[in-house]
Amino acid sequence: MQIAKAFGAEVTGVCSTRNVDLVRSRGADHVVDYTRTDFTRTEKRYDVILDNVEAQPPADVRRALTPTSTLIPNNGPGGRRLGPLGRIVKARVLSGFTRQQLKSFLSVPKRQDLLTLTAPLTTGQVTPVIDRTYPLDEAADALRYVGAGHTRGKVVVTV
Ligand SMILES: NC(=O)c1ccc[n+]([C@@H]2O[C@H](COP(=O)([O-])OP(=O)(O)OC[C@H]3O[C@@H](n4cnc5c(N)ncnc54)[C@H](OP(=O)(O)O)[C@@H]3O)[C@@H](O)[C@H]2O)c1
Repeated sequence: MQIAKAFGAEVTGVCSTRNVDLVRSRGADHVVDYTRTDFTRTEKRYDVILDNVEAQPPADVRRALTPTSTLIPNNGPGGRRLGPLGRIVKARVLSGFTRQQLKSFLSVPKRQDLLTLTAPLTTGQVTPVIDRTYPLDEAADALRYVGAGHTRGKVVVTV
């Protein structure tokens, strides 16, 4: 969200009630509280949706896109059988049947991407949101906390 803002996008963040202020404070132009409003069922249409949760089926999410815009499903674990591969294959196959673009995304650290982020990081336009910090000998607790799926930003293990 912060990166999209830094590069000039008008951004809508979708989160639960407890995170509304956080999301707004990090620059969202609009915030949808998913406990009250289903963003796929409003009149609003988006040019790009980065779906980090995939709580709704892609067909529902695509309703919130314009006919030619882009959906990026980004739920890391993916399905039970194929894991993230299933998400990538599904996006490729569905792309052949619609003018909407379905783009798979696998994060791979790249020097050029990191250099691109230098400016917004230096100016403070992009700042990490750290939820909790754990010492190394509590790494198992850190992983359990992340696994529960309710972190607010990142969890750090100090070494
Ligand atoms: N493609 C890749 O290479 C790649 C790389 C890294 C991570 N990922 C994926 O990126 C996603 C985000 O990572 P993360 O570490 O931030 O993970 P996360 O633990 O899955 O995200 C937790 C956040 O999601 C919120 N949330 C839960 N249900 C929601 C809903 N229906 N709508 C909106 N927000 C909802 C939670 O808020 P509440 O608890 O308040 O609901 C919490 O703040 C994960 O799915 C991860 O697997 C992908």
